[in-house]
Amino acid sequence: MIKKTDDFFIIETKNTGYYFRVTESGHLEHIYYGKNCNIDGNIEAIIAKCQYIPGNLINYSKEYNKTALEDMCLEMSSYGKGDIREPFVEIIHNDGSITCDFLYKDYEIFKIKKSLEKMPSSYDNTNQTESLIIKLYDSQYDIELELCYSCFEDCDVITRSAKITNGNKGKIIIKRLLSTQVDFDDYDYEMVTFNGTWINEMNRNTHRLSPGKVVNYSMTGTSSNRSNPFVIIKRPDTNERNGECYGFNLIYSGNHYEATETSSFGKIRFVNGINPSNFSYTLECLEEFEAPESVMTYSSMGLNDMSHNMHSFVREHIVRGEWKYKERPVLLNSWEAAYFDFNESRLLKMAKAGKEVGIELFVMDDGWFGERNDDTKSLGDWEVNLKKLPNGLNGICQKIENLGMKFGIWIEPEMVNENSNLYRQHSDWAVRLKDSPHSEGRNQMILDLTNKEVRDYLVESICKILSGANISYVKWDMNRIFSDVYSNYLDTYRQEEFYHRYVLGLYEILDQVTKKFPHILFEGCASGGNRFDLGMLCYMPQIWASDNTDAISRCNIQTGYSYGYPMSVLSAHVSGSPNHQTLRETSLDTRFNVACFGILGYECNIGEMKKEELDEIKDQISFYKDHRKLLQFGDYYRIENGRHDNFVKGLYQWMCVDKDKNKGIGLFLQEMCVPNHGFAKFTTMGLEETKEYHFYNIQRKHNIKEFGDLINTVAPFHIKKDSIVHNVIAKTIKLDGEKEDYIVSGSVLNNIGVKLKAGYTGTGYDDQVRFNKDFVSRIYIIEGIKENE
Ligand code: DGJ
Repeated sequence: MIKKTDDFFIIETKNTGYYFRVTESGHLEHIYYGKNCNIDGNIEAIIAKCQYIPGNLINYSKEYNKTALEDMCLEMSSYGKGDIREPFVEIIHNDGSITCDFLYKDYEIFKIKKSLEKMPSSYDNTNQTESLIIKLYDSQYDIELELCYSCFEDCDVITRSAKITNGNKGKIIIKRLLSTQVDFDDYDYEMVTFNGTWINEMNRNTHRLSPGKVVNYSMTGTSSNRSNPFVIIKRPDTNERNGECYGFNLIYSGNHYEATETSSFGKIRFVNGINPSNFSYTLECLEEFEAPESVMTYSSMGLNDMSHNMHSFVREHIVRGEWKYKERPVLLNSWEAAYFDFNESRLLKMAKAGKEVGIELFVMDDGWFGERNDDTKSLGDWEVNLKKLPNGLNGICQKIENLGMKFGIWIEPEMVNENSNLYRQHSDWAVRLKDSPHSEGRNQMILDLTNKEVRDYLVESICKILSGANISYVKWDMNRIFSDVYSNYLDTYRQEEFYHRYVLGLYEILDQVTKKFPHILFEGCASGGNRFDLGMLCYMPQIWASDNTDAISRCNIQTGYSYGYPMSVLSAHVSGSPNHQTLRETSLDTRFNVACFGILGYECNIGEMKKEELDEIKDQISFYKDHRKLLQFGDYYRIENGRHDNFVKGLYQWMCVDKDKNKGIGLFLQEMCVPNHGFAKFTTMGLEETKEYHFYNIQRKHNIKEFGDLINTVAPFHIKKDSIVHNVIAKTIKLDGEKEDYIVSGSVLNNIGVKLKAGYTGTGYDDQVRFNKDFVSRIYIIEGIKENE
C-alpha cells in the first residue's frame, strides 16, 4: 500500500514500513525503513529536530535556517548545499557548475507497477503492486529528477529507481545517478558482501561499519564474480534465525556500486546503482537518463527470512516467460566430459548413456562451430563445423531427439577471436583502442554492442542458428571481462557512456532473441558466475553458478548465492572425480547431494562410466525427478552455513520445504571429519509444528576399501591393501550404512532435532554407526504423515 498523508509518504508491505516526508524547505526527509508501525498521530515525535545549526555545518538557506543537510536522513542527496556524504546524484551543468539542489514538486500514485523504459525491471502480472513517482526540480536549473518507488506487498520488497530529464537548452553531464539511497539514523550495523573470482565465487564477507565507507563494486564491465550486487545490512547479532537485516540488489548486469557510509554524526547511508567510476552520460535538451531498479527487503526474523523475501521476489517478479514455474530438465553437458574434443559419434555415445540413466536434455557445449578446437579461434563464426558434425546442427539434434531427449547448445555471441572470419571482416566491431595494441582475456575480444549494426548482426546470426534445428536450450556464455574500452561508434565525449550502453545493447539483443524463441530455456553463464544478477534473470530463468563443479567448493558457493537468489535460478552439475578444478576426490553421492539443491545437471563422461556408477546415477536422477518441484521451487533454509570451529569443520545443513509444509529434503555435509566427535543432529526449519513427520534416510552401502587395511582387524587372515584379494572382497561384500527412521513431530524436528546415529570415531564400526569421513554427506527425507495413516 502506498499513500500520502499530509506531507508524509507511507509505503507498507505485509510486514515492513518505509516512511518519508517533505520538509518545509522542500527536501525529502527519510524517516524510517523497517518493521511496519502505525505512524498516524505520531508525526511530531518522529521527525528530525534541529534548532540551531551546529558549528561548521552548512546552513541550507536564510529562509530555512534550521536545515543542516549533512546531519539529516534524506531520500536523495547531492553535493553543493551542505551534504558531504555519498551523493545520490552528481551533474555538471551547462555553465560548468557542479551544485545540485533538487526540491520536491509533485507526486503521483499508480495502481500498477511502473516499468523502466530502457532496461529490464520487475513486473507484477497480478496488478497488486502500486508505484509512486515523486518529482523533484533543481532550484537553479531546469532539470527534473523523478524518484520511483514500487511496493511488492506479497514478498516484503520495495524497489526504487530514478530518472533525470534535462529541460535546459544546453547539454548537461550526469556524473552519477544512483538507484537507491537509504539513510539509517543509527550506526550499529554490519554490511555483508559476496566476493570472489573465477571458480571461487560468492564468499561471504562481513564488514563492521564505523566512520568512513565500505564499498562493494564491479569494474569488470559485468556484475562480476568479484563482487555480486546483492548485499546485506544487518545488526551485529543477527543470524540465520533471528534479528534485523536488510537485503539489497540491483536489476543490472554491468558495473555496479554499493556503498555504506557512516557519517561523522553516526548516521549510516546506503546507496546502490551504476558504478560512477569511468562513467558519465551527456544529456542533450529534453533527453532523459534512467537508473536501473534497485530492490530492497527488510526482515526482523533473521537472514533466512530475508532470503525468502528475495527468493519469492525473484521467482514472482523477475523471472518471466514460459519457464517461470516450469520444472527444469535434468541435463547432460559435454564440457567437462570432452571439452573441444568431440564429434557426432562421441556425443551420441554420451547421449545414449545419458538417456539410459534418465537424462532429459543433452547440451553440446563449446567447440561445435568454425574451427573451434581450442579457445584461440573462431568466436564470431557461428557456422557449424562439418568435420565434427557432418549432419549439421539439425542432424545431431534429430538424433538426440530420436533417443528421446531434448537438445541444447552453447553460444558466446558477445565475443570475437582475432583469429576469426568475423574479425578479419569487421575488426572495427571489436572493443579496442584505435591504433594501439590491445589486451585479451581468454584469447578473445568483446564486440561493441553500443553499435546498432553489431547488435543487428548478432540478432540475425543467433536467430539463424536457433531456427536451423529444434533447439530446446541455450547456454549463453561470456568469458572475459572488459579492457581497452573504446568504441569506434561513439563520439569522443561519449566514451564514458560505453559500459552502460554496452549493457543496454546486450539487453536489446536478449529481448529480441528471447521473445523470438519463447520455448527455449536460456541459461546465463559468464565463466560461471561472472554475470549472476537480476538483470540477466529478467531474460534467462537460470544461470550457471560457477565453473567450479567440486561439491565441497560448491557448498560455499551455493550457500553464498542462496542469500539473495532462489534455487530455481541456480544450476549445479555432478562432475567427475577427481574434480577438474580442485583435483579433490569426493563420492558420487556427495556430488549429487550438493548439486540436487539447484537445477541438476551432469557434466562428466557418462559414456565411459562403470555399471555401478551408472546405476547410482539412475537412482539419483529418479530421486531428483520425484522431488524436483520441492528442490527447485520449495522454501530453502540455511540451517548451518559452513560453520567452522573446534567441533565442526565446515558444516552445511540445507533444507527445502514445500509450500504446504508436507515434505522436506535436508542436506547434511561436513567438509572435514572431526576426530572423536561422533555426535551430530539435524534440526529442521520451516516444518509445521503441529504435524507428524516421517524422518528417514536412504540406507547406503559402503565399500570395504574405504577402511583401508583396517580390514585386518576383522579378517581371519592377513589381507594386503589393494591386493587382488582385497579387491575381490570389496566387490562381493558391501557394508550396510546406518539407517535413520523416526516418526517425529514438527515441533520436535524444528526445535530439538533428530540426534543422528553416532559417527565413526575410530573405535568400532557396524550398521548402527554413521560412516563419517571428510566430504561425506547425507540427504534426509521428511514426509508429513496423513492423519489416517
Ligand atoms: C565457460 C563456461 O562457464 C563453461 O561451462 C564452458 O561452457 C566454457 N566456458 C566453454 O568455453
